[in-house]
Amino acid sequence: GAPQTRTPTGAETGAPTIANGQQGAYLTTANGARLRDTDHSLKAGPRGPVLLQDHHLREKITHFDHERIPERVVHARGAGAHGVFTAYGTAEAVTRAGFLKKGRETDVFVRFSTVLGSRGSADTVRDTRGFATKFYTDEGTFDLVGNNIPVFFIQDAIKFPDIIHAGKPHPDREIPQAQSAHDTFWDFVSLHTEAQHHTIWNMSDRGIPRSYRTMEGFGVHTFRLVNEAGETVLAKFHWKPKLGVHSLTWEEAQLIGGIDPDFHRRDLYDAIEAGAYPEWELGIQVFPDTPEETFAGIDLLDPTKIVPEELAEVQPIGRLVLNRTPTNFFAETEQVAFHLGHLPPGIDVTNDPLLQGRLFSYVDTQLTRLGGPNFTQIPINRPHAAVNDMLRDGFHQHAVHAGVAPYRPNSLDGGNPFPAGDAEHAFVDVPVTVAQAPKVRANPASFDDHYSQVRLFWLSMSPVEKEHIIRAYTFELGKCYHQTIKERQLQSLANIDPVLCEQVATGLGLPAPQPTVPLPDVTPSPALSQVGREWPSD
Ligand code: HEM
Repeated sequence: GAPQTRTPTGAETGAPTIANGQQGAYLTTANGARLRDTDHSLKAGPRGPVLLQDHHLREKITHFDHERIPERVVHARGAGAHGVFTAYGTAEAVTRAGFLKKGRETDVFVRFSTVLGSRGSADTVRDTRGFATKFYTDEGTFDLVGNNIPVFFIQDAIKFPDIIHAGKPHPDREIPQAQSAHDTFWDFVSLHTEAQHHTIWNMSDRGIPRSYRTMEGFGVHTFRLVNEAGETVLAKFHWKPKLGVHSLTWEEAQLIGGIDPDFHRRDLYDAIEAGAYPEWELGIQVFPDTPEETFAGIDLLDPTKIVPEELAEVQPIGRLVLNRTPTNFFAETEQVAFHLGHLPPGIDVTNDPLLQGRLFSYVDTQLTRLGGPNFTQIPINRPHAAVNDMLRDGFHQHAVHAGVAPYRPNSLDGGNPFPAGDAEHAFVDVPVTVAQAPKVRANPASFDDHYSQVRLFWLSMSPVEKEHIIRAYTFELGKCYHQTIKERQLQSLANIDPVLCEQVATGLGLPAPQPTVPLPDVTPSPALSQVGREWPSD
């Protein structure tokens, strides 16, 4: 790739620069006192005990002792990069978001991740990949916190602790560290059959990407877009890699995991530093905002469902180029905090119950992970829009707020906080009618179809992709100690496709069960196959 015309400077992106923490030519204490020696502690004579009064020794060790923060409870292992998003203007009719207006350039930071492994785990394991993008727009930060798989395991955020507990290492032995704990994972997905769709994507080649640069990304949920006239549409976000979608083979993934556990982060950094800037197109599928919130019979609030691209084309709306590696992994990649509620005017949420729970979870976990409520002041998290909030004090407060009246309106510190004209750039809560309905702990009946789209995915695969899927199920289920779990998962496979079920059952040395539901009648979607994937639009 040709180098881009505009590489944002560290100061522009708020990235920490050497000047922030390393000023002047002399080594000093944290308080700026110059040091003569940082290699020997202060002792009562060369052979004597170390003196408690050695402030430099204590400062150096104390700070070191506190260098680690909790790793993310999920997506702990990741790699990030800075870049620029350029809008085509093709979304102007459906959203008022300023950063999507033609020709606008917006700084971004992207963090790719695996979900289940800890910070030090291998990059090439079979897992879902996170694809989280922070757009530093001048109307406030927009975080598109997506994955490389367009559906999710569960339909309601209240199940998130359960699925993650099932996928993380067993609490007694902490095995396996980097891949899903086999018995508990397969126990969960065979008992919660809404997880079968995400699971078949994991068992396909999508579960072992060749590179972050060759992954698609998906916002998963349906969002509501609103234009200047207040008209709304429903939309799903897609990232399409310029290099196409490519995966490793299972054998490659296993070997590389041992030889170079940093394979994906190395690939990302090496590509950027060589000037081969990774690129994606952002696209949207657009649906009419009807009261039913369905399209072609598909419930748009169900995060276990896709809308096949043959039914709703992905329309390109802009281009992302990653052109700068982080200066400091901890400061940027580790401290970045994404949140679905970071929305600019023109993009709003829907009632997808998974999305709604996520709106709570991210800030909540970041309060612990980043040590209190002021983490938006950390350089990587600072908006590139003027901030004038009424949030005060708290741990690690860096702002020195002026004035005496941190409430609005007030008659002491100034006038109207919402001058006319600001409305143009203000966030709009779309005034969607909220249904008058009894409170229930229940899903809509349309969430109950757990197999049609899994079969759709299976039938859309090429022969070699099918072969890989069969081998992946056979290998992963073969790791389960409990035969009842294997049998229950085989039942789900029978409900997806008899051939798939028979082949895996043969591999496991178990009988293939008969389907318990009629096989859904679906039309394959060629766009789901990695083979022959053509993108971007030009
Ligand atoms: C982290 C995606 C569902 C809770 C992440 C990250 C991504 C992601 C990409 C990593 C962010 C980073 O790089 O820092 C998704 C997607 C979901 C989903 C696409 C479904 C469509 C959920 C749900 C919950 C949840 C349902 C909780 C109810 C979390 C938490 C983190 C996280 C707690 C760690 C955040 C941090 O420590 O900063 N998720 N997630 N996620 N997710 Fe999700």
